[in-house]
Amino acid sequence: MKILVVGGGGREHAIAWRLSKDPERHEIFCAPGNVGTAAVATNVAIGAEDVDALAQWARENNPDLVVVGPEAPLVKGLVDRILTLGIPAFGPVAAGARIEGSKRFAKEIMEAAGVPTGKAETFTDAAKAKAALVKYSLPVVIKADGLAAGKGVVVAETLAAAEMAIDDMLVSNRFGAAGAEVLIEEFLHGEECSILAMVDGENVVLLPSSQDHKRVFDGDQGPNTGGMGAYSPAPVVTEEMLPVIKEKIILPVVRELKRRSITYRGIIYAGLMINNAGSHPRGPLAMSGSEINVVEFNARFGDPETEAVLPRLGGSFATALLHAATGRLEEADIVVKQGAAATVIAASEGYPGSYGKGKEILGLATQNEESVVFHCGTVSKDGKTLTAGGRVLSVTGLGKTLREAVDHAYDRIAGISFEGMFFRKDIAHRAFERK
Ligand code: AMP
Ligand code: GLY
Repeated sequence: MKILVVGGGGREHAIAWRLSKDPERHEIFCAPGNVGTAAVATNVAIGAEDVDALAQWARENNPDLVVVGPEAPLVKGLVDRILTLGIPAFGPVAAGARIEGSKRFAKEIMEAAGVPTGKAETFTDAAKAKAALVKYSLPVVIKADGLAAGKGVVVAETLAAAEMAIDDMLVSNRFGAAGAEVLIEEFLHGEECSILAMVDGENVVLLPSSQDHKRVFDGDQGPNTGGMGAYSPAPVVTEEMLPVIKEKIILPVVRELKRRSITYRGIIYAGLMINNAGSHPRGPLAMSGSEINVVEFNARFGDPETEAVLPRLGGSFATALLHAATGRLEEADIVVKQGAAATVIAASEGYPGSYGKGKEILGLATQNEESVVFHCGTVSKDGKTLTAGGRVLSVTGLGKTLREAVDHAYDRIAGISFEGMFFRKDIAHRAFERK
């Protein structure tokens, strides 16, 4: 197949890399890609958000499939444009991508579909929002409605912090139009996990569970990031939960969207909060002492979850994506390999705040069966690979057990260096603490 992958981060490198491992040989393109994707695909110099240029490229090159990585082009309607050319696309149309693009819309869909989630209200007026805070206990969560590059969520420990977050969004317009509406949401206790579900408009296949590490420092300290590491499977998700997540969360959302004439094809990424501690689990998904709630939906593969999940898939990934994109997921044969994977992000000093770029990365040449290095933010100059982002590399270790996978990831990252490089040393700690 001739396939265009849209995006240029670790997630897209993992998608292109996994496609390159299929039993069939593909012609893979990546727009814009990065130094890592160049090894498994042909990079195309078009930005992931340049919808016009991407549609033009697709018209001229007529790929068999377009796979969209990031949320921004989905929300901008890239898939709608590709579909008008008669080319299959893996990713939802803009109307479907609103499950990520608007938190209010996501809540509306969940409510209509009977999906368990935190109680929330929406406001455009700061005074009214602040007045409503009395109804919530602390901590309370303040969220910008729209896309804010992962920075639009504040978990406020005090009333003053909640009021400040509201002012930031509604008065100071910190996130522009994305923050013109805010949600006040009850805080959910428990352990988070990520479920990536492949959807073909009607049918759903859950990919292996995973867990992200959002805080920048060990022990889940410091500010939130795009994700500092991930592992799969996540033992907080038990086997008995999987069919419940499919039947009570993902399928009702797909059906509710369909009822609104939105055929959703691509990934529904459910960020779930699993509360095992409660002796009084409540709600429709209370089971065996656990309560499951949806924290958020994303309309795409997670990053870095994808770098831990895709290496665990066997069979033809391109065929599975094409089947989802064309409403034939029942025919897809998605094979999950035994074992585990763990991904450690190598980041630039200062991330998630400001950081330097252009540092030479050493130690990338090593090859082995037990690990893969995915590039997140890298550029090539004069034969050298240089840092070009806050998250620079996603180093994935594979193993028969999670412990082995984690060890392989850390063995590999130990051989890599660049000025100011740092990484979390405790990836998968929650899984190990369980035992
Ligand atoms: P979101 O962008 O909605 O995923 O929020 C980012 C992060 O904020 C989540 O991954 C959680 O760690 C945290 N968060 C968001 N909403 C809640 C909530 N209702 N309760 C607890 N934590 C939350
Ligand atoms: N890892 C979090 C995300 O992809 O949104």
